[in-house]
Amino acid sequence: MPTVSSRGQKVIASPIRKFFPFIQEAEKKGIKVYKLNTGDPDLSVPASFFGEIRNYKNKNLPYAPSSGIREHITAWQKYYKQFGVELEPENIIPTVGCAEAIYLALLAVADVGDEILVFEPLYVSYKSFAIMAGIKLVPITLKAKDNFTLPATEFIESKITSRTKAIVVINPDNPTGKLWNDIELASVLNIARKHNLFVIADETYREIRFKGIPTCLLANKIAKENIILVDSVSKRFSMPGVRIGCVVSYNKEIMDTILKFAQARLSVGTLEQYALIPLLENSKKYTEPIRLEYKKRSEIVFQMLSEIKDVFVARPLGAFYINATLPVNSAEEFVKFMIKDFSLNNETIIISPMSDFYITEGLGINEVRIAYVLPVEKLKCSIDILSHGLKAYKNKNL
Ligand SMILES: Cc1ncc(COP(=O)(O)O)c(C=O)c1O
Repeated sequence: MPTVSSRGQKVIASPIRKFFPFIQEAEKKGIKVYKLNTGDPDLSVPASFFGEIRNYKNKNLPYAPSSGIREHITAWQKYYKQFGVELEPENIIPTVGCAEAIYLALLAVADVGDEILVFEPLYVSYKSFAIMAGIKLVPITLKAKDNFTLPATEFIESKITSRTKAIVVINPDNPTGKLWNDIELASVLNIARKHNLFVIADETYREIRFKGIPTCLLANKIAKENIILVDSVSKRFSMPGVRIGCVVSYNKEIMDTILKFAQARLSVGTLEQYALIPLLENSKKYTEPIRLEYKKRSEIVFQMLSEIKDVFVARPLGAFYINATLPVNSAEEFVKFMIKDFSLNNETIIISPMSDFYITEGLGINEVRIAYVLPVEKLKCSIDILSHGLKAYKNKNL
């Protein structure tokens, strides 16, 4: 029998999606499942987007240029200008969501066996992409009890080797809800400049922040050419299904390299690039109500979770996730219990155990991530179910 590659064997199945069969089983039994496990926004797509799709007049649907449709790129330029970032068209390449932007950025900066510094817990796709690219991720652990604050610069520097190529900054962060402060960002940029490293800045959740105003790392004057921004419309306009993101950098060599990669995969959706133009040009009109909605939800979920005995939560300041440390030995077992064996008034919840979000073995075993992608009333029911579920789980294990 032929065998699959070792990278194929090493990549883990999505920790977020692996509970799908259990969800289906629960639903077959007639149980309502509140889904708080995926970062799939429940909010409506701006209606004007579908109008733009309907208005497409061309009878053909040709490949777009690998470097992006000119008007679409102009719209991104306008979008970034509001954050003080002046770009030329060659500084931007559209990608299939931020996911592809991450993969292309990793491939552009590192060879097989090279290292990239990341902060854990970490958005899991980075782990899979690193395995696919043969890159080693070197984790620096951030702790909920310290509000996921960065360790001292010297500690971060102690992780740098001759093979280190880049540092990843996800701001606002999935899965922690962390918002990076200016000192932390400056620290990473200074390290990058001093050690000649790239900074891969993932700002998928830029506008979804509950403190201060949205920023873009590229507006920073330090280490400008070291920064590779990976971005997306998925969360800020509640449209992950549109699959459009981009890579942005002032570094010509990086952009030339990524363009060659992009040429190999031809292009991203033509129709979608056109339809997104008005949204990018007037982004605040769409992102501000979304931000306010998540802010409201974050406060309610934080408050309710904080009131549950022996549960520890760090207050989220951005994105739409909250981490909770639970009084259980295995969050994985608890999540399975909730979906397979527990319901309250015929309702239950699905949330994500956190251990797969870590690189260091053994971390996160009693932590969960809750994505607050449901309306407030449903979130309230969900946290109530969680609270009852914890009691039932404790009694079962007595
Ligand atoms: C931090 C982060 N980066 C990138 C992505 C991928 O986003 P996209 O839908 O644009 O591929 C996600 C999706 O959840 C994310 O949380």
